[in-house]
Amino acid sequence: MSAFKAPTGTRDVLAPESARFEAIVGRFAHAAGLAGYGLVVSPMFEDAGVFRSGVGESSDVVTKEMYLFEDRGGRTLALRPEGTASVVRAFVQHHPLVPWKAWYATPAFRYERPQAGRYRQHHQLGVEVIGTDDPDADVEVVALLAGFYGGLGLSQVELRVNSMGDSLCMPGYRESLGAYLAAHESELCDEHRVVWARNPLRVLDCKRPECVAVRAHAPRLSDALCGPCREHFDRVLAGLDALGIAWRRDDALVRGLDYYMRTTFEFAALALDAAQNAIGGGGRYDGLVERLGGPPMPGVGFGSGIERVMLACEAEGVTGLEGSGLDVFVVDVVGGAAARDLTAELRRAGLAADRAFDGRSLKSQLKQADRSGARLACIVGPDEKAGDAVTLRWMREEPEDERRGGHQERVARAQVVEAVRGWLR
Ligand code: HAM
Repeated sequence: MSAFKAPTGTRDVLAPESARFEAIVGRFAHAAGLAGYGLVVSPMFEDAGVFRSGVGESSDVVTKEMYLFEDRGGRTLALRPEGTASVVRAFVQHHPLVPWKAWYATPAFRYERPQAGRYRQHHQLGVEVIGTDDPDADVEVVALLAGFYGGLGLSQVELRVNSMGDSLCMPGYRESLGAYLAAHESELCDEHRVVWARNPLRVLDCKRPECVAVRAHAPRLSDALCGPCREHFDRVLAGLDALGIAWRRDDALVRGLDYYMRTTFEFAALALDAAQNAIGGGGRYDGLVERLGGPPMPGVGFGSGIERVMLACEAEGVTGLEGSGLDVFVVDVVGGAAARDLTAELRRAGLAADRAFDGRSLKSQLKQADRSGARLACIVGPDEKAGDAVTLRWMREEPEDERRGGHQERVARAQVVEAVRGWLR
């Protein structure tokens, strides 16, 4: 039998790459915590209705890409394709005090055509602010994400923003867009020629050249905004300006999920291929809480794909996310008990320490120490054991340090923690 592999469109993330994954999640958690967001952990699967009603029946995410299954009790469940609908379901169920500010890190599942930067299981970092329509909340979430990207060291990132209007002005716009599309139906791409009427806005989102050409002369969303929506959007833009966050207006930014109202935004990594360069996106969803059975309640948030952020970091040559690695590798050729006790002592002192198992030869253990990336080896052979000492050896060439790789010294066993600290300083 041939060995199993991870399912198509999914990937394993192993060390050392996973150190970058971990650093990205850690920094996001820190940034969200600094801004007053609390972690929300909710099930990876929900009643499929949460996404059907929440994300919407005209989005590809629900109609074409959802992982649906029936459980043994006959319930129709879906693996979470995104975070917002689940968070809003949790909000409706537990009615926490508002404004409720939640952050999450979660896998998301979409049956998409796999390619670089597009997976069937990806991972999202996100925040949601529920219970306020203050434009400053929109500014806060955009600023949080912009600051997070900047803090990672990404500089080639463009913020695109739009407003999609609300339940007052959007229906009129949909109608005029619909009338325009009806007159140009035959020119649309194969898919939208058939389904455009289900949600004419999807044509604005379509990347195929036929739809791109048709929408060049379509009625513009920006011309259709009502007074309050225009004012809301102006205040968002003014807030971004005040915080020095550069933005570009993109009238076609309607996003692929049905719940958006008013502000929408996306961050594009310019170092990535345009088809998959959205590293994060979000917006306002003022009708969603109600759609999922709660009271009328506005909300705003974003999701950012960890894999795409990692690809953008790679494309821009961002460093510093690699993790600090091991401080010391204990090499014990006198039976293993010394390694057991030394690693425990070093770890208790807050040092990153590892060891070899299985009583391997000195050569083999030193090779393993080298491969581990540890800066120091702590060697215990018969002489050291007899003299109640250890030998510390530099494993790396460190340009800023005059002690070159290979330099070694014997230190007293009782002083090992202090000595290692001293060497690493
Ligand atoms: P979304 O734009 O569908 O929005 O996804 C958010 C981010 O997840 C994207 O910008 C992208 O970085 C990443 N992403 C999406 N699909 C894939 C995929 N197949 N492979 C790799 N990465 C992917 C949402 O999901 C909304 N819930 C965001 C939101 C939160 N809006 C308001 N609050």
